[in-house]
Amino acid sequence: MQIAVIGLGYVGLVTAACLARLGQTVRGLESDPSKVAALREGRAPFFEPGLQGALLEGSERLTFTTDAAAALDGAELVLICVGTPSRPTGEADLSAVNAVADAVADHIRSATVVALRSTVPVGTTELIEERLNERLRGRGWTEPVPVIANPEFLRTGRALDDFLRPSRVVLGRTELATDAQIQLLEALYRPLDAPIFVLNARSAELVKNAANTYLAMRISFVNELASLCEATGASVTAVLDGIAADPRIGSDYLRPGLGYGGSCLPKDVRSIIAQGEQHGESMPLARAIDEVNLRQAALAAERISAMMDRPLDGTRIALLGLAFKPDTDDIRDSPSITLARALSTRGATVVGCDPEAASGVAEQEPWIELARTPLEAARGADAVVLATEWPAYVTSDFAALAGVMRGDVLFDGRNALDRDRVEAAALRYGSVGSGLANAPRSSSPY
Ligand SMILES: NC(=O)c1ccc[n+]([C@@H]2O[C@H](COP(=O)([O-])OP(=O)(O)OC[C@H]3O[C@@H](n4cnc5c(N)ncnc54)[C@H](O)[C@@H]3O)[C@@H](O)[C@H]2O)c1
Repeated sequence: MQIAVIGLGYVGLVTAACLARLGQTVRGLESDPSKVAALREGRAPFFEPGLQGALLEGSERLTFTTDAAAALDGAELVLICVGTPSRPTGEADLSAVNAVADAVADHIRSATVVALRSTVPVGTTELIEERLNERLRGRGWTEPVPVIANPEFLRTGRALDDFLRPSRVVLGRTELATDAQIQLLEALYRPLDAPIFVLNARSAELVKNAANTYLAMRISFVNELASLCEATGASVTAVLDGIAADPRIGSDYLRPGLGYGGSCLPKDVRSIIAQGEQHGESMPLARAIDEVNLRQAALAAERISAMMDRPLDGTRIALLGLAFKPDTDDIRDSPSITLARALSTRGATVVGCDPEAASGVAEQEPWIELARTPLEAARGADAVVLATEWPAYVTSDFAALAGVMRGDVLFDGRNALDRDRVEAAALRYGSVGSGLANAPRSSSPY
């Protein structure tokens, strides 16, 4: 099949590379010329495990352009993968999706099917379809072009694996879509060997919004529970072991920490709240999920201050990890950076390191002092924080860190460290929700 993939970010480029690897001919359309230049030189423009290799493997069937007419010429299928970030009101900003719909209407020259892979509010697929077809009619086009909702569920950091081995494929049809057009998409995804759900477009859009809100809910739940554990002297780790043993609950997305972040969960929770408002639903649970999450950075800053037994003003805090999670360079809504901001506004100097995200931080958050390694970051620090659980940071040489630090506090912001290893290095260990077990040698409650 001849496929145009529009928007070559974390979703679009992974989709393009994987489809080329599966034997499709893919043209990638991207508005950022620097990304296209990198791709034409054979370089992935961002870090995603396995992406560079997949691009090489699929290179014979994969081309990249900034020219919409060239990308869309002869495309039997168009996959829209552009971003849908939050507006200040919490609503999803659909301007990129609208612009792409217009470009498709202006440049297609033969019958095609459009699939909307971006995460969008309920009702968007139909609106985009209307917009696209109205513009096509203005060009004298008579054959309607359907837009099919086709949300993506991949996780950054595991994107290729998730794309190639998805838990499910969701196709949401509008009234315009014919059985043959749905079958075209089913045929595309059949090699992935995943259950395919064909729903109406609105239900498909809500599957994606609801899944992310539910995952965020588990994280906010466990963070709220962690605060209660601290207040009562319980250990959240022990409580979680007991909860997770219930097969109805399990352990995924139930690790306390700095809160959820990244380019999806925060914006999708805010979007579902805004969608509720628009449709007369007050969404009290979704609001609480967001509210709990927004507290996490301030709570962590207080925990660190309490462990040091002094205000943050004038301290030097080292953050190990700046990306929103390991195995990515994505710093959008990174909890680590939110914590850095909370520490900095309280007067601390923040120094950070990250194996992949440092250049993005230098560009977008230049107020964060950057170090190349954990050891360099820890030098002279009053406290070191594990802020992103990169495997290399989780297994740090804590004795070496202790040797160069000014203080002796190691705060585990991701509840990922081996407490015994940290304490064996004569560092005081603190984490989220470990209650009295965290008590330092002073009388501080942490
Ligand atoms: N990142 C994830 O883990 C993930 C997972 C599932 C779904 N999603 C959803 O997928 C969508 C894309 O997410 P992402 O993280 O890949 O975003 P991204 O910001 O990394 O990528 C979007 C790309 O689209 C390009 N673009 C914008 N307007 C364009 C236009 N008119 N023509 C061509 N290119 C254009 C941008 O330059 C950018 O490279 C979002 O709706 C997101 O919510 C993301």
